[in-house]
Amino acid sequence: MSDNSNSRRDFFRKASLSGLAIFVTSRFSFGAKPSEQANSSLKQAITKLSEYQLTAQSKQNPLQYGYTDLEPYIDAKTMEIHFSKHHAAYTKNMNEASATSDFASKPLFQLFSEIEKYPVFLKNNAGGFYNHLLFWTIMGHSNGQEPEGTLLNAINDSFGTVAKFKETFSIAGKKQFGSGWAWLSVNEQGKLVVSSTPNQDNPLMSTTEVKGIPVLALDVWEHAYYLQYQNRRPDYVDSFWKIVNWKEVSRRYEEAILAIKQA
Ligand SMILES: [Fe+2]
Repeated sequence: MSDNSNSRRDFFRKASLSGLAIFVTSRFSFGAKPSEQANSSLKQAITKLSEYQLTAQSKQNPLQYGYTDLEPYIDAKTMEIHFSKHHAAYTKNMNEASATSDFASKPLFQLFSEIEKYPVFLKNNAGGFYNHLLFWTIMGHSNGQEPEGTLLNAINDSFGTVAKFKETFSIAGKKQFGSGWAWLSVNEQGKLVVSSTPNQDNPLMSTTEVKGIPVLALDVWEHAYYLQYQNRRPDYVDSFWKIVNWKEVSRRYEEAILAIKQA
């Protein structure tokens, strides 16, 4: 066989391989729906977060303040029952439900990202475990703190002003029908978004409509406020702004932004 015929055959072989490469690329990259691409970049980002080490066998972290420290905005009895009974129960239920399972050692955030594969009991209790773990950290003595630095810039960018952001978030909490949560999250584009979820769902869950990495959360279950506020959920939501630990919200925001950039 001549050199020419070998070259021609190589040419057609390479052309056919590159055609295949184009087909594969278009099938799996350009063909993916934008929401699928976004979800996959969020799945990558969550692996970079320090809380990715949490599993369904994790325990409650100790509170970084006393039960009386959020008074007069949240009373000590509510804090005690909320932390030592409600959060403790979600944690125990999650630990027990996963103890003999093959997902006991899987990262909790991975379970959230494919939560439709797991029993609702695990979803509710693992959600309850994580949501409260986050919630305790973003409260404390605020001493009149307000958002600052890169978080302040991001809030202004997404909502116009801090006041407008607080109004949007407060409405999400006040209007959530029944038990649930209000959230401020960083979405896959690195933008701050406000949302609410029912029950113990959160923005990390695959079944949640507005997905993102949560940086601020407000529990609007009645167990969070009923002893002090009874039916006045709006008053509880308005009081929340007096006890937000903005330093921790900023830390979470910066960690989320870095994770999204690295994804
Ligand atoms: Fe709660």
